[in-house]
Amino acid sequence: MVEINPDITKARTLSSNYYTDSKIFHSIFSKFGRYWQYIGHASEFDDGYVKPVKIGHEHIVLSRTTEGFHCFSNVCTHRGMIIVGDEGCKKSLICPYHGRTFSLEGKFKKMPEFESVENFPTNKDDLSHYKTNIWENLIFTLLNEVDETNNWFEHVKQRMSFLDIGNFTYDSSRERKYSIKANWILYVDNYLEGFHIPFVHKELNKALDYGQYKTEVFTGGVLQVGIADEGTNSFDIPPGHQDYGKKVAAYYWWLYPNLMLNFYPWGLSINVINPVSEDVTEVRYYGLVNNEELLGKGAGADLDKVELEDQFVVESCQKGMRSSSYTNGRYSPTMERGLHHFHMMLTENN
Ligand code: FES
Ligand SMILES: [Fe+2]
Repeated sequence: MVEINPDITKARTLSSNYYTDSKIFHSIFSKFGRYWQYIGHASEFDDGYVKPVKIGHEHIVLSRTTEGFHCFSNVCTHRGMIIVGDEGCKKSLICPYHGRTFSLEGKFKKMPEFESVENFPTNKDDLSHYKTNIWENLIFTLLNEVDETNNWFEHVKQRMSFLDIGNFTYDSSRERKYSIKANWILYVDNYLEGFHIPFVHKELNKALDYGQYKTEVFTGGVLQVGIADEGTNSFDIPPGHQDYGKKVAAYYWWLYPNLMLNFYPWGLSINVINPVSEDVTEVRYYGLVNNEELLGKGAGADLDKVELEDQFVVESCQKGMRSSSYTNGRYSPTMERGLHHFHMMLTENN
């Protein structure tokens, strides 16, 4: 693996094989399970609802019982059938192939025609269990025992302390799913710089004061703070907060490797970046509303339009990565610090 020079004025960007080589793709992606993955909002769950979630090639389910939330594998321990289909299910977990039944905690309950099987059932017949973490009604899971998240929750909690995120309303009409013909790293690269805003997002550029756009890096992620232009909505930040007095239009958090929390005066937009292969990425959007009257205004007004503008550039860059004439480039020290930080993390962690 290459190294990125920590001095941005000397560094070269990530080389193009990171975006095209399937071995590099799999090696990086195999470690995603070490970082908390967003899998749902508490309000989506009545008692007994079982929701299927896919993270890369892992099929998991999230259920809620009176005991709390449970996250476990959606792959039947008999012959590997996916148990719960896309629509989810209610109160019973029965494999549609041969009827193996599990509890809503993922424990084996019964199975027809297995009476004479020796040493059966054992805990190998239960569905593999994963840790969950609930923060402000947002539910996360860790697929691997190792947690390398580097405490990003603390950074977000502290900076966003003036918002009552736990009382934001989950709005399923804001869910989106996009399939993009580009490597996931390109999608994140693009997210991590506001450099392209005046060129790619003409409308968004009118809402933001480009000259005051700020990027902060920390262990575990990057925060970009968009400052509102005259006449654009901004947060009401209380005295004592480090951003008091600033007209903040948006807080764009990227948490390594694939989570984005975008706070706008109207609420929160969550983006989950799911790598599919070295040149296909699935992006999912989820929305939580805090102030309905501010929807459609300011920097978070038309997220669908901004998304399509971003997809156009990342899909085009993916074509460039395949060209023999391009290997890598240089960073702008004033505008691409977030990108440089991401590339250092990526090469250090892999
Ligand atoms: S694969 Fe599930 S019961 Fe056979
Ligand atoms: Fe963009």
